[in-house]
Amino acid sequence: MNWKEIRQNFPITQDKTYLMNASIAGQHKSVIEEGQKWLNDISLHAALLEERYFELVVQSHDTVSAFLNVPRESVTITANTGHNMGILASLLKKYSSKRKVLASKVEFPSSLLPYLHQGFEIDEVETKKDIIDFEEFIGKINKEHAAVIISHVQFQSGQRAPLLEISKKCQELDVPLIINGTQSIGAFDLDLSKVKCFGYSASTHKWLGAGLGCAVLYINPENFKASDLPFVGWTSVKEPWLLLNNDPDLREEVNAAQTGTLPFVMIAMLVQAMKVVNQVGIENISARIIELSDLLHSKLKELDFDIISNRDEDQKTGIINFQHPTMCSELIVEKLKEENVYINKRRTSLRASIHYFNNEEDIDALIKALNQLIN
Ligand SMILES: Cc1ncc(COP(=O)(O)O)c(C=O)c1O
Repeated sequence: MNWKEIRQNFPITQDKTYLMNASIAGQHKSVIEEGQKWLNDISLHAALLEERYFELVVQSHDTVSAFLNVPRESVTITANTGHNMGILASLLKKYSSKRKVLASKVEFPSSLLPYLHQGFEIDEVETKKDIIDFEEFIGKINKEHAAVIISHVQFQSGQRAPLLEISKKCQELDVPLIINGTQSIGAFDLDLSKVKCFGYSASTHKWLGAGLGCAVLYINPENFKASDLPFVGWTSVKEPWLLLNNDPDLREEVNAAQTGTLPFVMIAMLVQAMKVVNQVGIENISARIIELSDLLHSKLKELDFDIISNRDEDQKTGIINFQHPTMCSELIVEKLKEENVYINKRRTSLRASIHYFNNEEDIDALIKALNQLIN
C-alpha cells in the first residue's frame, strides 16, 4: 500500500499531529466533498430533490448491510448509540422478563445508561487496571442474564473483545448479546453473519471518519417486531406519503425505527466513508493501525509512563492508554497542544489513537514532545 499517497487524502494530517481518532477521526477528502456537494444541493434545490433524499436512504441501507454482512431489512441509521441502545433496551424488556445485564465496569456510558434508565440492573464484571479478563467475563455469563453488553473495542483502554467466543457462549445459554461497535467500525472487521447478536450499534464519527451525528443500528430480524419499538414517526409506516393519521401500518423492517426526516448530508458522507474503507481494505487498515500503534507502544515503554492498554496480539488496537506516575494528564494534554500534537485525556489518563493515515513521523512527534515534557 502506498500509505504516503493515502495520507494526502486526509486534510487533518497536513498541519498537525492528530492522534484523537477514537474521539473524532480525520475524514477522507472524498467524504468531505460528498458532504459539501449534498449541503450545496439541499440549499439550492431543497424540496425539488426530495426523491433523491429518500433514494439515498435506501442506498445507505444497502451499503451498511453489506458492510456488516447482514440482510438490508435488519439495519437502519439513527443519530447516535445512546438512542440505539435505548431502542434495544426497550425491545429487550419486551423480549425477556429478566432484568440483569452482564457488562464490564469500563464500558462507555452510551452502552449502559439506556439499560439502567429502562430499569435493568448491571451485573458488573470487575477489571484489573481497566483491563477485562475475557476468560473470567465469559465464565460469568449465565441463564439469569437478560443480555450481555460489550463494546467490540473499549473506548479508553482500546482492548478488543473476542466477540466470536462471547457470542458462542451466549448462544449456548440462549442469552442475547448486544454489541457497541463504535470504537471498531472502520478499523477492525466485524462480520455479523458470524458473530450472532441481538443488536449492534456503532456511531460513525470515530474510526469510520464519516462526520458527526449518525450511528448504524442492526437488530436481529429473529427478535425484531416493529410494534415493540418505543417510538415511531411518519416514516415508520409502509406508505408514508399517504400521510394518514390512522392506526399506523408499520414497516416490518428495522428501518421502522426511522421516525422522520434524516440528516441526509451526514448519511451521504457515511456511505462515502464506507466506500473508502472498502477501497483501502479493512484488513490493510487494521494491519497499518497495529503497525503504527506497536511502534508507539515500543517507544513509550522507553519513557517513564505507565501503559494501561494491554497489547496481546488478538486484543490490541490503535488506542494506547497511558499515564505519567506523577504528572497530571490534563497538563500533559495542554502542553502537547503547544507542540501541535493532539491526544485525549479520558477519565484520568491519556489516550493516543492512531489511524492508518497517521505515520511514523506522527509517532516521533508525540514521543519527542512527551520526552521534552518529562525531562
Ligand atoms: C464505545 C463508545 N460508544 C459510544 C460513543 C458515543 O456515543 P453516542 O453516539 O451515543 O454519542 C463513544 C464515544 O463518544 C464510544 O467511545
